[in-house]
Amino acid sequence: MPKKIGLLTAGGDCQGLNATMRGLGKTLYQNIKDVELYGFLGGFSGMINADYVKLEPHDFSGILTRGGTILGSGRQGFKTMKVVEDGVDKVKNMKKIYDKLDLDCLMVLGGNGTHKTANLLSQSGMNVIALPKTIDNDIYGTDFTFGFHTAVEVATDAIDRVHSTAESHSRVMIVEIMGNKAGWLTLYSGVAGGADIILIPEIPFDPDLVKEAVMVRRKNGHNFTIIAVAEGAMTKKEAGLKEKERLAKRKELGYRSVSDLLTAEIAEDGLEVRSMAPSYMQRGGSPCPYDRFLCTKFGIYAASLFEQGIFGVTVALRDNQMTHNLLSGMADKSKLVAPNDQTVQLARKMGISFGDTDPTDYYKK
Ligand code: F6P
Repeated sequence: MPKKIGLLTAGGDCQGLNATMRGLGKTLYQNIKDVELYGFLGGFSGMINADYVKLEPHDFSGILTRGGTILGSGRQGFKTMKVVEDGVDKVKNMKKIYDKLDLDCLMVLGGNGTHKTANLLSQSGMNVIALPKTIDNDIYGTDFTFGFHTAVEVATDAIDRVHSTAESHSRVMIVEIMGNKAGWLTLYSGVAGGADIILIPEIPFDPDLVKEAVMVRRKNGHNFTIIAVAEGAMTKKEAGLKEKERLAKRKELGYRSVSDLLTAEIAEDGLEVRSMAPSYMQRGGSPCPYDRFLCTKFGIYAASLFEQGIFGVTVALRDNQMTHNLLSGMADKSKLVAPNDQTVQLARKMGISFGDTDPTDYYKK
């Protein structure tokens, strides 16, 4: 009897999904004599609608450097999973196809929402192994998710590239960086790109203190300022509002994003401000060597968990070692930047402003 494994990629895509599946597929074919792999197309909807393909060994070749996902992906929110829509009971359908194909395991590659659904499927009686994907690096229990380091490279490159225009035109340049509710991507690329001000969701900022930081720089002879702001960053005033209220308030004021808000605030002082967002470029293209390495190891490790019959878990990297965490232990947890994170503390020490305290004027000290 062959061992049968289903595979799917869910949520927003990122670099390294294919590299991870390659590590997984090659290891399974290498180590299990008789194995069959099935790929569900377009995320969980492929499983709900029995839309799948049989994957052959050659499908896992030549995809190490390929962005996106050969299986396609989709955002099927966790909250909708238990809802019966148009007579379709999603979890029941997924169990049905799992049983029909006689699967021994389902491997799911995805972010926080995907992990919640993976746990739900595990509780519904399927053998599930998850792999942590996201450029946001916000999955609980792993030091890094795959996709993150490539996104850091892209965002850092964006910050690097605006430096010249900022300097030539004496401007304040705002680079808005993805990351959802987590500031990891902005923190890492902000430090790596030499941003002067880093604004992240976990540390609400005061626009006056941001302006003050810009002014102190100008007074000290720096005619330009680079601000790296996370898409989820918020002002101290906004921090008291629920997300929906915050967005509604911004809309009322004519701001579509936090960088719109910042641009308006800073321009008030007569400064020339421009903003840009590398946006989906941060999720696209080939994975960087670190991610290829991590993806390959994650894939190999997931295959070895299957061989050992360890299910209901997600693969993780902790202290540079491959490990795994129980899916049931992750419910509703995510990993955010602690306001006193060591990187934040170190960055503050060299004068990087987080927009929440008076800027240090090192010429005055
Ligand atoms: O989770 C990855 C991510 O790129 C976030 O950083 C961003 O907030 C979100 O996805 C964008 O989602 P969508 O692809 O649905 O526009």
